[in-house]
Amino acid sequence: MADKDFNMDNQWLPFTPNRHFRKEPRVFVGADGMHFTTHDGRKVVDGISSLWCVGAGHRRLPINEAIKTQLDTLDYATAFQASNDKAFEAAEAIAGMAPGDLNRVLFCNSGSEAADTALKVALAYHRARGEGHRNMFIGREKGYHGVGFGGMSVGGIPSNRKVFGTSLLPRVDHMRFIHDPAAHPYIHHQEPVWQEDILLELENRILPLHDPANVAAVIVEPIAGSAGWYLPPKGYLKRLREICDKHGILLIFDEVITGFGRLGTNFAADFYGVVPDMLTFAKAVTNGVIPLGGVICRDKLYDAMMKTDAPEHVIEFFHGYTYSGHPVACAAALATLDLYKQEGLFARAGEMGKVLGDAFHSTFKGMPNVIGIRSLGLAAAVELAPIAGTPGKRGYDIFLDCFKKGVLVRPAGDVLVFAPPYIVEKQHIDQMVNTLADAIKANA
Ligand SMILES: Cc1ncc(COP(=O)(O)O)c(C=O)c1O
Repeated sequence: MADKDFNMDNQWLPFTPNRHFRKEPRVFVGADGMHFTTHDGRKVVDGISSLWCVGAGHRRLPINEAIKTQLDTLDYATAFQASNDKAFEAAEAIAGMAPGDLNRVLFCNSGSEAADTALKVALAYHRARGEGHRNMFIGREKGYHGVGFGGMSVGGIPSNRKVFGTSLLPRVDHMRFIHDPAAHPYIHHQEPVWQEDILLELENRILPLHDPANVAAVIVEPIAGSAGWYLPPKGYLKRLREICDKHGILLIFDEVITGFGRLGTNFAADFYGVVPDMLTFAKAVTNGVIPLGGVICRDKLYDAMMKTDAPEHVIEFFHGYTYSGHPVACAAALATLDLYKQEGLFARAGEMGKVLGDAFHSTFKGMPNVIGIRSLGLAAAVELAPIAGTPGKRGYDIFLDCFKKGVLVRPAGDVLVFAPPYIVEKQHIDQMVNTLADAIKANA
């Protein structure tokens, strides 16, 4: 198939430079295991699990079969005032994997909806307890929580926010970022130890400024994924948990990227030994094949919302989506989670993560423009100095170069990230890393 076989006039591509794309289209028409086939018949390694989704690799037959069977059994059913068997089963399976008493699952369809849902649960929970004045949120610089107005407001990536200024939620503040490039340029499967306590800013400035009794929730990605795989200082999440507990503030972990195996554990909450009050998920829960997201809430949130004097016919939480708990998506989730378990894929992600991290540090350290390397779990990032005056250009050019040579890498500005499917083998890692190294040299 040639470029001219596509009419590109109608699809407006998301988070993509559309004008340049038309000159150099990248179109997938097939996928299997670790690879895509492109419209012009080339094989491309999926080095990013198609945006952190495809943990088990592409075209996994048990998942496809579960979807087909579900379509022939119950294709869809309304989610309001009724439910379906697969939604209950999927909720049970997901709650069973989550730590502590994270037991109540609210389904939605994406990470963005999950973030907005979690923020709304926080407000509703506090109001149900007679603390409706707790209506402020705290996020973090460079955080990404999707593109809904709630997630965008607590998010901290400037380019995602700047156009929407006055429409962002008004009562939001942001903690400082978790990376110190001077002290910790290279992080290789360890938790960086900081000399200073960066959460003192939250305790001594942000909370007193707004009064902690007005704060509904703090939301963070345990690892800042979209910004470029930035790892929290040692003890950071535990201390954040303690501060939230001290002030009755809910702690939300956005695990849309880290959930379901990326760190070799079910969730980052398990990896770091910290249980949040809510945990959002999406992406890898269905291996990416069908949209499904959700929020797992601790029992106390659900219980508080059910403890109401309203008559029983009254809805307790006015929120939900037409496709919440879609039976086909939930069937896909059940098959995916089963496949992860059958093949021990989370443990494999942990093991292959070390291979990926070793390859990153041994290959990229000392290469032209490399100013940082970070690896943990099955993801690694190499950070490059930007071209003066055109930040992001070097990263984009390297991404294009790698694609032409058969490797899909994720550019986050001038940070290049790999987060391959958990089925990745050493030969794929070698190909990915060598291709990226050549492209870094070519764009020096
Ligand atoms: C941490 C995090 N939260 C939320 C989202 C948004 O998810 P979606 O694109 O499914 O809305 C993403 C997407 O990458 C993410 O990485």
